[in-house]
Amino acid sequence: MVMGCDINKDMVDFAKANYSSEDINFIVLDIAGEVPGSLRGKFDHAFSFFVLHWVKNQEIAFKNIYDLLGNDGDCLLIVVGQAALYDGFRDLAQSKKWRGLLEENEKYVSPYHDGEDSVSELKEMLLKIGFSTVDINEKPVAFSHDNEDSFRGSLRALIPFNIPEEQFDDFLDDLAYAMQEGDHKKYNLEKSSSDLTFNFNNIAIYIKK
Ligand SMILES: C[S@@+](CC[C@H](N)C(=O)[O-])C[C@H]1O[C@@H](n2cnc3c(N)ncnc32)[C@H](O)[C@@H]1O
Repeated sequence: MVMGCDINKDMVDFAKANYSSEDINFIVLDIAGEVPGSLRGKFDHAFSFFVLHWVKNQEIAFKNIYDLLGNDGDCLLIVVGQAALYDGFRDLAQSKKWRGLLEENEKYVSPYHDGEDSVSELKEMLLKIGFSTVDINEKPVAFSHDNEDSFRGSLRALIPFNIPEEQFDDFLDDLAYAMQEGDHKKYNLEKSSSDLTFNFNNIAIYIKK
């Protein structure tokens, strides 16, 4: 039996409509909220890709995953660490042009964007929660896109702000420029937005109860 969860009901409804079967179902669940008692200890494996960096209270989310797993249960997940995307959010949040629309900016910055040593911080927290095996690998990733539409489409999917449709193209132009400044000047990366490349640090985590 496989169970998928998301905090967003629209996501769950879509998954239910398209991917449900006898063995697969989906529920609305905030992984940093209250986990139903009936699910505790019920899972052999948990997977989560590109979700947990959206969650502010990391300790509660990982504690919930710990509680959902049965004895010897394990979990493989990926979160985003440092990325010029977040520097771009911060730059635009300070600009006169965009600050009104980006007031909640900090809510969407990965908790592993600013850390000096995110891997050690994570390891310490996960061991404290009680995981017996903690294996973490952080590495830079450069996603190259074949064309401008594909690059802008990917970037658009990462924007959590309520930008009016008629301003969206302008917003993406300014964000891509700000990201490029970060990639070149702060991270010394050669390729960036103008090369249709999206850079970020990928943090892969394997944990076992
Ligand atoms: C980038 S998408 C994940 C994509 C998918 N895992 C994949 O690899 O294609 C991030 C998802 O995390 C969900 N999410 C954000 N915060 C969450 C939370 N606290 N609990 C559960 N889901 C959450 C969002 O609603 C969104 O659907």
